[in-house]
Amino acid sequence: MTKAIFPGTFDPITKGHLDIVERGSEIFEHVYVAVYESTEKETLFDMNERVEMFNLSTQHLKNISVSSYKGLTVDFAKKVEAKVMIRGLRIGQDFEYERGMALVNREINNNIETVCLISAMPNQFISSSRVKEIAGLGGEVNSFIPEKIYQQAKNKLKGEK
Ligand code: COA
Repeated sequence: MTKAIFPGTFDPITKGHLDIVERGSEIFEHVYVAVYESTEKETLFDMNERVEMFNLSTQHLKNISVSSYKGLTVDFAKKVEAKVMIRGLRIGQDFEYERGMALVNREINNNIETVCLISAMPNQFISSSRVKEIAGLGGEVNSFIPEKIYQQAKNKLKGEK
């Protein structure tokens, strides 16, 4: 059976990410969730919080593990001996972006295949930035983020200390 990684910044995890990792965990022997220590994106949640929120949201999944990484995603995949990189495809520009990333990743390491899962209908328009924007402007985000992290995330999302 094949092992996979599911990389991302997850700032924070959304129901869109949860849908993808749940479906990935049914296909692959083990899914290594790889939380990227982003240098390009300034994150609202620190690395420990992002890992913890992903863990909390996926306690019901037995064949996944969550850890942080730095550097190239294909190098992380190699380290954990995963042959597949799972990505979610939403409506619009995701396809072009994912195609470019998959081709570049294969140039760097042609042993790692990218497998894209089509995001479920309700998650087609969700992104972590949108969640942060809505919450920061006082909107309700409980339909966009996993229930298990809602209490923990909501104060920070609303800009409260
Ligand atoms: N449902 C809901 N939202 C989704 C989603 C899904 N299925 N898939 C992606 N998103 C959201 C993400 O939350 C993110 O939102 P944000 O931009 O508002 O934060 C946005 O869509 C883009 O997602 P993604 O492309 O996964 O970006 P990311 O920052 O989460 O992760 C990495 C990108 C880390 C995987 C990529 O930059 C990487 O591999 N970096 C490491 C360095 C490297 O190897 N570079 C070479 C790559 S070619």
